[in-house]
Amino acid sequence: MKGYMRFVCLALLAAFLVSCSTNKPRYVIGISQCSQDIWRDKLNYELRMGSYFHEGVELRFASADDSDERQIEQINKFVRDGIDLLIVAPNQATTVSPAIDKVYEKGIPVIVFDRKTNSKKYTAYIGADNFEMGRSMGEYIASQLDGKGRVLEIMGLKGSSPAIERHNGFVKAIEDYPGITLVASLQGDWTEQSAVNAIKAYNGDLSDIDFVFGQNDRMAVGASKVLAANQNTRYCGIDALPGEGGGIRCVRDSILDASYIYPTHGDEVLQLAVDILDGKPYEKENPLMAAIVTRDNANVLLMQSVEIKQQSQYLEQLHNQSDQYLNELANQRVISYFAVVFIFLLLVLIVIVYRYFLQRARIRDEREQMTRDRLDFYTQVSHELRTPLTLIEGPLSQLAETEDIKKAGTEASGLFAIVRRNTDKLTQLINKMLDAQVADGVSDATVTVFSAANSTAANSTAAADLLPQSDGLQSSVSPSAETSDTTILIVDDNADIRAYLRTILQGKYQVSEAADGQQGLAVANEIVPDIIVSDVMMPVMNGLEFCQRVKDGTATSHIPVILLTARALSSHQIEGYQSGADAYITKPFSAELLLARIDNLLQSRHKLKNLFATSAVKDETEAETEVKASVEAPAEAPVPVAEDVFIQKFRLYIETHLDDSDMTVETIGAELGLSRVQLYRKVKALTGYSPIELLRKSRLQKGRKLLETTGKTVSEVAYEVGFSAPSYFTKCFKDEFGISPSDL
Ligand code: FRU
Repeated sequence: MKGYMRFVCLALLAAFLVSCSTNKPRYVIGISQCSQDIWRDKLNYELRMGSYFHEGVELRFASADDSDERQIEQINKFVRDGIDLLIVAPNQATTVSPAIDKVYEKGIPVIVFDRKTNSKKYTAYIGADNFEMGRSMGEYIASQLDGKGRVLEIMGLKGSSPAIERHNGFVKAIEDYPGITLVASLQGDWTEQSAVNAIKAYNGDLSDIDFVFGQNDRMAVGASKVLAANQNTRYCGIDALPGEGGGIRCVRDSILDASYIYPTHGDEVLQLAVDILDGKPYEKENPLMAAIVTRDNANVLLMQSVEIKQQSQYLEQLHNQSDQYLNELANQRVISYFAVVFIFLLLVLIVIVYRYFLQRARIRDEREQMTRDRLDFYTQVSHELRTPLTLIEGPLSQLAETEDIKKAGTEASGLFAIVRRNTDKLTQLINKMLDAQVADGVSDATVTVFSAANSTAANSTAAADLLPQSDGLQSSVSPSAETSDTTILIVDDNADIRAYLRTILQGKYQVSEAADGQQGLAVANEIVPDIIVSDVMMPVMNGLEFCQRVKDGTATSHIPVILLTARALSSHQIEGYQSGADAYITKPFSAELLLARIDNLLQSRHKLKNLFATSAVKDETEAETEVKASVEAPAEAPVPVAEDVFIQKFRLYIETHLDDSDMTVETIGAELGLSRVQLYRKVKALTGYSPIELLRKSRLQKGRKLLETTGKTVSEVAYEVGFSAPSYFTKCFKDEFGISPSDL
């Protein structure tokens, strides 16, 4: 059982691991953004879209909202939680750089994008050239002003690399134009509000400013709002984002004069990250191309961006859908794994339960077989003991009743009493032994011990009820008229038992003997006895089979069978009755009981005889009514159906052949499948008349009927009912009815 449990646990664990294994990402990438605005939203969106092309990449986003401390904290948390690569846009280079350096030193690859650190401790940089952008915007303004005019610069967050580089590039460009005056470089922080605040805080005169260069579009727009009164002032910025409020629309709507695309290219950033993680070759410095946006190309760029946006939306939709399908698939896979494991466990369980019950049934069968064997053994032993006991007890009782012993006085009868007490004790011991075996081993509650001693006592009482009370055995039996020619067949393999039975039965009945069932059957068929007393346990053919075959044979089926046996259990008796026995007497038995039972059965047969005799000669309807009446009152004398059928067949045959004077006992016997002797014995046993007598009675009955109902003469009637001579008919008629046929 332990082994099974371990097996079941392993199966469950395997199913669990299989179902979990699919969800672990290949790479976890942390993205640390310094701010949150539309430029960074676009970048994050592109990163997400890019990740769809790389199986098993998990992106974790964090925004520091322009706070160095928060960004440092977020970077550290990424490392603590476990990331495979860091993508970072540092807020202020000096403050945030050490935290980034530490990540790099830990061996985690670092991609710096958009803004730079102030160390070289990063794996790769990707972003546009901010110096070049500042320079380009300087060139653009100078050209727009024909090299002459007043210019105001609004710078991005102090200490952030794009602010410094864009300023340097811008200053470098306008240096070449002596007519251009940089009125001031005000400090902003990349937000629109910072530009508004910076201008408001400025003390100088800004009324004649020709161009404002915002280092990004938001600050340029902020400046345009504060300086709205200055009609001639023009503005330009950087970023050129496509969406609502983005730089391209501002250029199209003439809020800004120009902007410079500050590329996000999230997809490229992610590709670089995956290349690094996959160990593929990559460049450390990855510049992104940029371009200026003016009123000339703003519309085209807007249209393009709308299209790109739409495409990426489709792409995202597709991705979401496939994501959903994949999730469903994963769920179904988990369910199927569990279903397979469940079915498997169920099968294992069924096998275990099945084997358990099989084993139990086998043990039960073995036990039952052992009990049966033991019981058989004890039955055999008790049989071996009961037979000699019968042969001691029975003859002893008979001896005790003899005149010589009676005359010998009290001493002799005392000695007889001692022997009898001890044989009784022995019988009781055998019964107890059998009792103990049954109580000990037999689960079958229907099997109860039939106590031979008790049954002997009970049967003796029954016998006493049946017989007229008398002091002598010889006179206790009164087998009426049949005494002399009633035949009894004794079947027993023990010669002593046969001899003892003969002493009991001789003088009252004609006794025949057989040593086993097979012999018994032969004798029974030959002599057709009036009653059979048979043992059960015999060689060649046992008593049960013998009894059954007697009851199945046409010639013998009517013969009552008494089983006389040592098999004392009630289950044995049941077997006996099932084989067709009419009585069951256990050894050691009392002679009175046996005689009483024999007499009783013969009496029953005698009662039947009258009935069958009537049935055999009367006409059909009369006879049937009488037989039926006796069937309905079976307590008196049950009519065996087979015998009734036999008599009906017999009657029908003689009735239809009545006028046939050649009809003989042989022809009737042949018709009914019996020999002459068998027919005689059977018919005599059943009706009390010989077949010849019955035949004659039938003829006379019919003759009388014809004389009474027709005008035929005596001679005519005599021939018609099969008499060869009318004079003989007249004689028989007189004998039968007491009157002469001519009187009718
Ligand atoms: C976005 C932004 C952009 C600017 C860039 C510089 O956060 O402020 O407007 O071009 O950062 O790093």
